[in-house]
Amino acid sequence: MRNEPFPFPNEIYPDDWFERLDAASLFSDNNPIELDIGCGDGSFLIRMGEQFPDRNFIGVERLLGRVRKVSRKSVRTGLSNVRILRIDTKFGVKRLLPLAGASRIHFLCPDPWPKKKHASRRQMCQLEFLRDLHSLLLPKGELLFKTDSPEYFEEALEVQTSCDFFSEEEWPEDAFPYPQTDFEEQWLAEGRTMHRMRLIKG
Ligand SMILES: C[S@@+](CC[C@H](N)C(=O)[O-])C[C@H]1O[C@@H](n2cnc3c(N)ncnc32)[C@H](O)[C@@H]1O
Repeated sequence: MRNEPFPFPNEIYPDDWFERLDAASLFSDNNPIELDIGCGDGSFLIRMGEQFPDRNFIGVERLLGRVRKVSRKSVRTGLSNVRILRIDTKFGVKRLLPLAGASRIHFLCPDPWPKKKHASRRQMCQLEFLRDLHSLLLPKGELLFKTDSPEYFEEALEVQTSCDFFSEEEWPEDAFPYPQTDFEEQWLAEGRTMHRMRLIKG
């Protein structure tokens, strides 16, 4: 969009793209930080930011158009506790996001990669990815995962139980307030079923 200011409000521009970000420098307070990995247009992120002003949120997304939408929405809603980082997830978690800095990670409705030949791209099914997410969490931090794909879910569960990074916790609907994401709303409207996993570090 023309005539928009640069830098875009609430977008994170690291000084050094090969150094871990300093969690303390990202927000004006020391409130707990939650990550929304692959946040899309950011509806979940913005709703969480509105519902929990005493928490901070970082969205991670690679598509520029979606990143800009999050930036605009956060300005429209006057949120100072929501920021957005344009980066590939794999690089972000491995190299850039603060270690042991997040109280929760939301990994919601990731691309399902339904074709068998692409199954290796399902990130929650990769031990290395789980290890990297684990390293971003504080002790007792939570990793929350949702997918509509039963194959993806079963495989992720298998990988998670094969390692000792996390323990699995029940996640009933009313456990805590948890807005639906854009894709979840769309998939539920199409009659699909969501599968959910709640993992605790330690
Ligand atoms: C199916 S959408 C889900 C978006 C959002 N979490 C939701 O539930 O509405 C998956 C999102 O992850 C982003 N994404 C996929 N692979 C990514 C990657 N490697 N790095 C960063 N973002 C990625 C896509 O651009 C897309 O916005």
